[in-house]
Amino acid sequence: MKPGVDYHSFANPDEFRVRHVALDLAVSFPKKELSGYADLTVDRVKPGAHTLVLDTRDLAIRSISLRDAKGGSSTLSFSMGDEQKFLGRPLRIELPASTTPAAMVAKALDQSVIRIEYSTLPQASGLQWLTPEQTSDKKHPYLFSQNESVHARSWIPLQDSPQVRVTYSAAIHVPDGLVAVMSATHGPVDANNTYHFEMKEAIPSYLIAIAVGDIKFRAISARTGVYTEPGMLDASAKEFEDLERMVAACEKLFGAYRWGRYDLLILPPSAPYGGMENPRLSFITPTVIAGDKSLVSLIAHELAHSWSGNLVTNATWRDFWLNEGFTVYLERTIVRALYGERREQMEDALGLQSMRRDMADLDAAHQQLAIDLRGEDPDDGVTDVAYEKGKLFLQFLESRFGRAELQTFLRGYFDHFAFQSIYTEQFLDYARANLLTKKPGAVTEQQIQEWVYGPGVPSYAVLPPQDVFKPIDDARSAWLAGKVKAAALPTKNWSTQEWLHFLDNLPPKVSADRLIELDSAFALTKSRNAEIAMSWYRNAIRNDYQPAFPAIDHYLTSIGRRKLVRPLYEELMKTPQGATFARNTYTRARPGYHPITQASIDALVTKN
Ligand code: BES
Ligand code: ZN
Repeated sequence: MKPGVDYHSFANPDEFRVRHVALDLAVSFPKKELSGYADLTVDRVKPGAHTLVLDTRDLAIRSISLRDAKGGSSTLSFSMGDEQKFLGRPLRIELPASTTPAAMVAKALDQSVIRIEYSTLPQASGLQWLTPEQTSDKKHPYLFSQNESVHARSWIPLQDSPQVRVTYSAAIHVPDGLVAVMSATHGPVDANNTYHFEMKEAIPSYLIAIAVGDIKFRAISARTGVYTEPGMLDASAKEFEDLERMVAACEKLFGAYRWGRYDLLILPPSAPYGGMENPRLSFITPTVIAGDKSLVSLIAHELAHSWSGNLVTNATWRDFWLNEGFTVYLERTIVRALYGERREQMEDALGLQSMRRDMADLDAAHQQLAIDLRGEDPDDGVTDVAYEKGKLFLQFLESRFGRAELQTFLRGYFDHFAFQSIYTEQFLDYARANLLTKKPGAVTEQQIQEWVYGPGVPSYAVLPPQDVFKPIDDARSAWLAGKVKAAALPTKNWSTQEWLHFLDNLPPKVSADRLIELDSAFALTKSRNAEIAMSWYRNAIRNDYQPAFPAIDHYLTSIGRRKLVRPLYEELMKTPQGATFARNTYTRARPGYHPITQASIDALVTKN
C-alpha cells in the first residue's frame, strides 16, 4: 500500500479538487430527508482531466448542472458505479469539452459551480433522525450528523477524503420552532426559519456537521458556551463550567485557538460516540454529565482536536493515530494543568489497561500505529491502539527530549502544518528534522520504526507509575479476602477513576452475596455515573447477578453510546441465557440506536 493514498474514497483528488461546498437543504422530519442542492467549486489540478469522481452513499441524485457566474446553466451527464461495502458508490460527472481546455489548470472551472440536486434517504449512515420520544425533553424531533469516518457522503455528494479540505457555507430550512446549528460561524436566521452558516477555514469533510432540534444556548465565557435541549441546559452549563479555563490552558501550551468560538452541543442520549470534535462546536454525549465534572477529560479531548486533527489532519484513515494519539497526549496535558498530576496518572493508567485489553484481541497488523485498513470499515479500525499507543509514543519522545522541548516541538508542528492534511511519514520526516536532531542519538531510527510499524508496545515505553491505584488494589484485596466489610472500605473520597479501577479489576467470579454486599453499601446498580454503571453491570452479567438486570435493560434502552453498550452485549452473548436477554433487550433498544451503534450490535447479536 502507498502512504498518502486514501483507500476509503472513490474520489480523484489528483485530477480535481473540490474547494468549496455551498449547501441549500430543507429538513423534513416526516420524510427523514434532507433535500436541495450542493454547489461545488472545483479546481482542475490535472490538465485535460474530464471526469470528476465524487463519493456518495444512499443518495438520490436528481440532476447535475454546470452554472456560470451569470446564471447560465447546462446539464451534465453522470453515472453511478457499483455499491461497495462501507464505501457507497462513486458518482462520475462528465465535464463538457468546452470547460476542459488542457491549459486550464488549478483554476476554478470557468468560475462555474457544479450544482447537484439531491435528497438523502432515511437510512443515511451519517444522520440520525430521532422521534420526540428519543430526545431528552421528549417534545420535538431531532436530527444530528456524525460524519467521521466516511459518512459525510451519505448526506453530501463530495470528495469524502480527509486529504481534501473545503470551506463551506449552508442555508438550512428547518420547520418552525426548531433550531439548526452547524460546525461553522452562525449567520442570520431568515423569517422563513432558514439558518445560514459559513466555515471560512478549509476543513476535511468529516468535520462538516449539523444538528436540528429544540436547541437552546447558554454562554460560559465570551467565546465558549453550551447548546442543548432546554431541560439539559442547567446541568450542562454546570458540568462544563471549566470550558474557558481549558481553552486558555491549551492555548498557552500549543498556540492560539484558531477557530474563533468554542461551544459544545450536548446531544440526546442516543449519540453513538462520547464526543466528536466538529470545529467550533464539539458534539458531546450526555453520558459525560456525572454531576461532579469527573468525566470532563472527554471535553479536554475534543477541544484538543482543535489543534491535533482539525488544524493538522490525518490524510488517510491509516494515519488516524496522528489525530487520536496526539489528542490523547494533549488531553492529558490539559487534565494535568486543570486537575493535577494524580488525576492525569489515573487516566493514563485506565487508558493503558483498556488498551491492553483491546490488544489482546488484535492481530499484530492491527497493533501498528500506521494501520492497513484496506477492505475494512474505518469505523472498526477505532481501537485504543491509535489512542493510547499513540499517546505512549509521544510520552516516550517526551521522556527523551524533555517535556518543555516536546511541547515547543508540537507547537511548531501545529504551525508548520496548520490547515493541512498529512500522512504518517510526513510527520516522521518533520520529527527527524526538527526534534531528533536536537539530541542526536536520544532516539534511534529503529525505535521509531518499532513504534510506528511494529506490534505491541515497545519494552522501553514510559508507563504511568504502578502505584497510582495501589490503595484501591489494597482495598479490593482486603475485601476479597474477607478482611473488611464493603461498608467499611475507605471509599469516601474515591474519585470516578478510582471506582472504575476497583470495578474493572474484580475477579471474573464473585459470588452473589458478595455482589449484594457491594451493591447495598454503594448502590452501584442505581449509579448515575454512566461509566461506573457500565463497569458494574459488566461484573453483574459475568456473575449472573439478577438484581441488576432490570437496570441493565433500562441502561441499554436509554443510551446509545457504542463504547458503553457494546461491552455489555458482548458479555451477555457469552452465555445462552445472556444471549436471550440481549436479543430481547436489543429488539426494543435497536430502533433508538444510531446507525453506527446498530451496525456494531447487529454484528454481535446475530453471530450465534
Ligand atoms: N474523533 C473521535 C470520534 C470518532 C473516531 C468518530 C473515529 C468516528 C470515528 C473523538 O474525538 C473521540 O475520540 N471520542 C472518544 C472520546 C475520547 C475521550 C477518547 C469517544 O467517543 O469515546
Ligand atoms: Zn478523538
